[in-house]
Amino acid sequence: MFTKLVDVEDYRILAQKRLPKMVFDYLEGGADDETGLKHNHEIFERYRLMPRRLVDVSKRVLATTLLARPSAMPIAIAPTGLNGIFWPHGDIVLARSAAKAAIPFILSTPSSDSIEEVARHSDGDRWFQLYVVQRELAANLKQRAKDNGYSTLVLTTDVAVNGNRERDLRNKFGVPVQFTPRTILDGMMHPRWSLSFIRNGIPQLANFATANATSVDAQAAVMSRQMDASFDWQALRELRDAWSGTLIVKGLLRTEDAQRCQSLGVDGIVLSNHGGRQLDGAAAPIEALEATRSATHLPILIDSGFRRGEQIIKALCLGASAVLLGRTTLYGLAARGGAGVDEVLCIIRAELDRTLALIGCQSVSTLTQDYLLGSSLRNEASNDHHDSIAPSACRERTARMSH
Ligand code: FNR
Repeated sequence: MFTKLVDVEDYRILAQKRLPKMVFDYLEGGADDETGLKHNHEIFERYRLMPRRLVDVSKRVLATTLLARPSAMPIAIAPTGLNGIFWPHGDIVLARSAAKAAIPFILSTPSSDSIEEVARHSDGDRWFQLYVVQRELAANLKQRAKDNGYSTLVLTTDVAVNGNRERDLRNKFGVPVQFTPRTILDGMMHPRWSLSFIRNGIPQLANFATANATSVDAQAAVMSRQMDASFDWQALRELRDAWSGTLIVKGLLRTEDAQRCQSLGVDGIVLSNHGGRQLDGAAAPIEALEATRSATHLPILIDSGFRRGEQIIKALCLGASAVLLGRTTLYGLAARGGAGVDEVLCIIRAELDRTLALIGCQSVSTLTQDYLLGSSLRNEASNDHHDSIAPSACRERTARMSH
């Protein structure tokens, strides 16, 4: 049966079969009319690759350096909340698969395995994503991440208020899960999922189960995703001063915000529209990539809509250092647990490798805009000796990667 699973879409279909509708809708859904979600996928069509021929691509390199640490591929697993609802101990499962693949794993604030449990069960490069619900609670989470060896803090900035996810509203999806006749029937129609749900218990927001008594309000706020909407640039400055490790700011789309992060000493940014789950009419992050790359020297990570190695290659050509995978690895998790995540990562690795070979490029660290159609045409117009400008463009990118 599993020989039929060829691409990420196959895992998406299998995940949809295994999960009750309300759980799949939580995974899959976007904000409002979901036009942003759709746009995140369609946008890749605008970028076409321009392969070079007769290049020796018998050996190809996917490994890279990401924020001064080695990564086997230019990808990381994005932070996603409540992973335990897709598979028992979903966070630990994802963290282990990431460690096996030698790529970073980002644990979400509303995770269903705690900061400590994930650290105990996986030994890869772990990052912690911070939602600021209450400043005091954020300080507590940050300290726990530091004490448990998380190398990088990822501050998410695009959830000042919760996005309007109408699928979840219609399904009455929330934490704690509400048992209505409809949800019970939904569960009965998905017995494999229900059985593991009964065996392993209802997933909790584990990071708050151990926090002190003052966090009772905060737990309620996290559950309904009510963030501290007053968090501003001054608060980021204070966070930078308080966290000595690597700090990344996630959820940016504007060039001047990226520049401001750079001037505050942030180490990297993630261009993201939260996978279309927050502001429906937001630009796709890849539309902001070229301008952001020209305006800052920060490492730029990007997410939202990436399901194929070829799409990742396009983002790298436009100057991204790496791509975060959100739903892509969740489809693997929801379909087949750890084996599914491993398989999806294998598929993405193979697609990256094949695309490199087919565009005539030996290493992800030497990808430039020169491999994209629009850019190639611009270069040709400004320089008759097309080939002669490529090495310096490659050198420039290599310098950026090592920054
Ligand atoms: C998310 N995302 C998210 N982001 C974040 O910073 N903290 C979180 O807790 C969550 N939770 C979450 C749950 C689920 C089910 C999804 C699908 C996404 C957003 C995530 O980090 C990332 O930005 C998007 O998933 C990227 O888009 P794709 O790859 O899913 O299209």
